[in-house]
Amino acid sequence: MKKFSMLAMFSVAAAFSFNAQAADRVGDFTLIDNTGKAHQLSKYAYSKALVIISQATGCTANQENIARYKQLRTNWDHRGVTFVMLNSDNKDDRAGIRAEEAIWNYDFPILDDETQLVAESLGITHAGQVVVVDPVRMNVLYRGPLPAQPANAPLGQALTAIVADGADSRQMETVTVESEAAAGCALTFPARDAALAKVPDYETEIAPILIERCVGCHVEGGIGPFAMNSHMMIQGWSPMIREVIMTGRMPPMQIDPTIREFTNSGNLPVEERQKLVHWINAGSPR
Ligand code: HEC
Repeated sequence: MKKFSMLAMFSVAAAFSFNAQAADRVGDFTLIDNTGKAHQLSKYAYSKALVIISQATGCTANQENIARYKQLRTNWDHRGVTFVMLNSDNKDDRAGIRAEEAIWNYDFPILDDETQLVAESLGITHAGQVVVVDPVRMNVLYRGPLPAQPANAPLGQALTAIVADGADSRQMETVTVESEAAAGCALTFPARDAALAKVPDYETEIAPILIERCVGCHVEGGIGPFAMNSHMMIQGWSPMIREVIMTGRMPPMQIDPTIREFTNSGNLPVEERQKLVHWINAGSPR
């Protein structure tokens, strides 16, 4: 009896410490890179880790570290780690990213986070930050600068842990190392800040987007698998709605607008995607 209660106490303690230390999770996303290629987080499931280097044009911390980024990749890619860059700077566009690449030759795919929603979900605040994600469990394991001594610094420790045989990121925690933004590397998030100050309004801002973009199919008897006919229905489907927006699955017919404009493409404007996701992040309030 005594033994039993001791065991029960242990398992309660274990459950608590597990929750307290659980790593930050991210949702799936799809972004297009500087060459026009699409990258979906879940499609990197063959990698043990995805290292995401936040990048911005004119960011000195990026420009001065190119050789070290490449060295880090050389040290880890043969151990199952994949590397990409992520441009979430709202003053940059695809042409600007390509021009920066032509000058500096980063030689990493540079994903264009034009809505900044991926940076927000990863907890990125400035370019030059490095984030390590387990693409299977979608847990963030490291968020911080590229340290001077990669092997024994927190970044190297996070990579060593996740590439180990039998590693399970559900039993790891997110290590966040704070650092100042170098010149040209600070990111601002005006859409997120506006949504934090005032959550987008369901009736005047959210419902009109859904009516224009989705309800044509998501209606009683329509080809969409559920009808967007009440706030409760939309609130219930919100996690899925956020996922299909972040992965570009809905509306159907998403076409890279830098290749060619199609009048019948299903692309949602940047502001509409931001509004929908910020509203869902706030709990899809009425
Ligand atoms: C042209 C018709 C059409 C439009 C427009 C459309 N959908 Fe869909 N939607 C579908 C169909 C068909 C499915 C089921 C097949 C699939 O998942 O691809 C679906 C599935 C979904 C699902 C379920 C996901 C899943 O895995 O099955 C969600 C959530 C969704 N749509 C949200 C939206 C949102 C949000 C919009 C507007 C921004 C939208 N859809 C616009 C046709 C449409």
